[in-house]
Amino acid sequence: MKRVTVRVPATTANLGPGFDAFGCALSLYTDVTFEETDGGLEITGCEEAYTGPDNMAYTSFCAVLASMSEEVRGVKIHIESQIPICRGLGSSAALLVAGAIGANVLRGNRLSTQGLLNITNAMEGHPDNLAPAFYGGLTASMVDNGLPVTVNFPLHPDWEILALVPDFTLPTSKARAALPAQLPREDAVYNIAHGAMVLKALELGDEKLLRNAMQDRLHQPYRKSMIADYEKIEALVRTMGAAFCLSGAGPTLLCITRDKTLKTRLETKLSALTGANWEVLKLHVEFEGAKVLKSE
Ligand code: HSE
Repeated sequence: MKRVTVRVPATTANLGPGFDAFGCALSLYTDVTFEETDGGLEITGCEEAYTGPDNMAYTSFCAVLASMSEEVRGVKIHIESQIPICRGLGSSAALLVAGAIGANVLRGNRLSTQGLLNITNAMEGHPDNLAPAFYGGLTASMVDNGLPVTVNFPLHPDWEILALVPDFTLPTSKARAALPAQLPREDAVYNIAHGAMVLKALELGDEKLLRNAMQDRLHQPYRKSMIADYEKIEALVRTMGAAFCLSGAGPTLLCITRDKTLKTRLETKLSALTGANWEVLKLHVEFEGAKVLKSE
């Protein structure tokens, strides 16, 4: 039976004002192996709760086969993931992307990456994690007539990204339910202007511009009360000179800096906080995106 292993990077979505549009691939990975069998579903390498037919690697695997009018036979799926689950670092998107690529490779690579993005975006509802997971780097996406369109943006090479990952989870559905259905026009204008500046600041390596631009009125103000010590940590990070935002829907917090000493300085201060335990992960941008590690 044919077997394929796919590696997909973690992703951070929104980058402050770019709600549901901006995303960036990061240096943590999920490897998923798919092996077709004569019948049944077997999922290993993850918690028992994720071994059923609603596992996202399996649902996207099936969706891609369905789009080719191909029968779903049995499949063994083995997951090895470094991406923390339900923390705003794209663990679900990574599984969707892996399943889509796995199915496509096993059936002769008949769909393009754009085709796979279309299918998975219809499942996820927004392309901000999916696009960088497929393409790597910094991306902005829009959805027109139900179809995602993605472009990559250049990034200055010196950025260092710290992901502050807490010991509690926050389901994206809960974090989205907290958002208002409508926004004042001045808040919409604020986000458009700040979003454009974030992309330019990331390209130029302009830390001061990024710190000012990476502010948001669309989602972060409505979500911060669900995250212990959010305001204290934001103040701390900004005082230390770095840019700050929520990673995706949270609860992970993101610091972007060119200062190589920030991690050590921040860890000392974070250990004094009492609302949660925070692990500080030092990451870099992953420019490659999802790839096939092995196909046999
Ligand atoms: N943009 C999404 C949100 C996160 O903030 O709810 C992941 O797609």
